[in-house]
Amino acid sequence: MGMLIQNGTVINADGRQKADVLIEGETIAQVAPNLSAADHTVVDATGLFVMPGGIDVHTHLDMPFGGTVSADDYRTGTIAAAVGGTTTVIDFALQSMGHTMREAYDTWRGKSRGKACIDYGLHMAVTDLGGGDCSRGLREMEEMVAEGISSFKLFMAYPGVLMIDDGLMFRVMQKAAALNALCCVHAENGSAIDVVVAQMLAEGKTAPHYHALSRSPKAEAEATHRAIALADMTGAAVYIVHLSNEYALDELRFMQARGARAMAETCIQYLVLSLEDQMPGKSWDEAKYVLTPPLREKKNQEPLWQALEKGSLAVVSTDHCPFRFADQKSLGRNNFSKIPNGGPGIENRMQILWHFGVNSGRLTPEQFVELACTAPARIFGMPKKGTLAPGKDADILLWNPNADYTISAATQRMATDYSMFEGWKVRGNAKHVFSRGDLVVKDGEWIGEVGRGRFLKREANAGGFA
Ligand code: URP
Ligand code: ZN
Ligand code: ZN
Repeated sequence: MGMLIQNGTVINADGRQKADVLIEGETIAQVAPNLSAADHTVVDATGLFVMPGGIDVHTHLDMPFGGTVSADDYRTGTIAAAVGGTTTVIDFALQSMGHTMREAYDTWRGKSRGKACIDYGLHMAVTDLGGGDCSRGLREMEEMVAEGISSFKLFMAYPGVLMIDDGLMFRVMQKAAALNALCCVHAENGSAIDVVVAQMLAEGKTAPHYHALSRSPKAEAEATHRAIALADMTGAAVYIVHLSNEYALDELRFMQARGARAMAETCIQYLVLSLEDQMPGKSWDEAKYVLTPPLREKKNQEPLWQALEKGSLAVVSTDHCPFRFADQKSLGRNNFSKIPNGGPGIENRMQILWHFGVNSGRLTPEQFVELACTAPARIFGMPKKGTLAPGKDADILLWNPNADYTISAATQRMATDYSMFEGWKVRGNAKHVFSRGDLVVKDGEWIGEVGRGRFLKREANAGGFA
C-alpha cells in the first residue's frame, strides 16, 4: 500500500501536467494522470501545485562565527526549512586553521546527529592544506570526496579566519579538477576590504551602515573574476556563492561567454532587500541586515532577476546564517566589524522567490522549480533529488499558490528574534511536505520525527558540466 497524491498539478523544471504521484516507501513509484487509488492512502491535492521539495545549498547551522554560534542548530534549522518547503540542505563544515578536514567532517556530522530533520549534505570549507607540499590536505580532499563531500568552499574574504591566498586556492582548484569536485567560492577581496574597514573605524564610522559601505561591489567583482580565472586555469568547475551585484554578474557573464566552467547563485535577500530600504544609516536596528556580501543599492536587483530568467545565475539559495538581534548582533554595538554577519532566511526562501518571482510574472513555476530544486540537485550531485519522477526520492512539496501568509518573527520556526521580512505579506506557501515518503509537514505544521534526516553522499560530477 502506497500514498497517492491525487488531483494536483505536477510541476517539474521541464513542464507541468495534471497528474497523480504514487509514493511507495521512500520513493516515487509513478507520476501519471488518473492513477488508481486501489489500496493507497490518498492525499487530495486539488488546487495545489505538486513540486519537488526545495533544496537550499547554502546554509550555516550551528556554526561558530564572529565570536558566537549561529542561532539555528540542525533541529530548528531543518524544521524551519521543511515548513518553508525545503527538503534538503547543504551546510558548510568549516576546517579550522591548524586542524584537519576530517576533524571538521566529524564535528559537523556530530552536530547533525539526532537533530537533522530532513536530508542534508556538507560542503567542506578548506582553510589549510597542511603546509609543505600540501600533500596532507590534498589527500584529505580525496577522502572527503569518498565520504560524499563533492564540493569545497574557498573564502577570499575574512582574512585571518577563513581567507586563503591565491596559491592555496589554486592548489585546491587543481585537485578539485582532478577529482571532478566543485569549488564554491565566497568572492570578495578580503585584504582590500580590511584596509577600508580599518580606515572607517579610525574615522569613527562604527554604525552597521558602514559594514555595507566598506565592502564595495567592485571588491566582489574583482574576486569573482579572479576566482573564475584561477579555476579556468586549472580546469575546475566553479560556483560563486551569494553573488549580490551587477558588477560581479558582469564578470561572471564575461567568463561564461569565454567558456569558463562557472556558475553562480544569488540569495533571496539580494533580490528583494536593499541598502536604501534596510540600511539607510539611521539606526542600530540595521545590524539585523549586516550580511556579507552586504545589501546593495536597489538598482542591482533588476539585473539579478534578469540573470535568473535568462540562466546566467543558476540557483537561488539563502546563505542562512542566523544570529539573534538582542544578544548576538549586539557584539558589534560599537564596532560594525564585530557584528556577526548573516541573517535568517531558510524558512522564507520558497515564499519570497514565489511571491516576487512567480506572482510578479518574472519566473514561470517551472523556472521556480529549476532554480530552487532541480538545478541545485544537478549541480551538487544529488541524482535522487530535485525532480518528481519514478525512482527519485519522494521529497514532495504540495504548494498552495493562493495561500496568503504574513512573515513574522512571532510565528517563524527559525530561532532568531527577528525576521528580515517582518510583516511582509506573501501569496503562495507550503501546505504539505513529504521527505523521503514521510509526511513531515501537514497544513503548515511540522509533524515529523526529529533526527530522521540522513546525510547525503553526493556525487563528484564537476557541477554537472559535461
Ligand atoms: O553574512 C554572511 N554571509 N555570513 C555567513 C558567512 C558567509 O560568508 O557566507
Ligand atoms: Zn560567504
Ligand atoms: Zn555563507
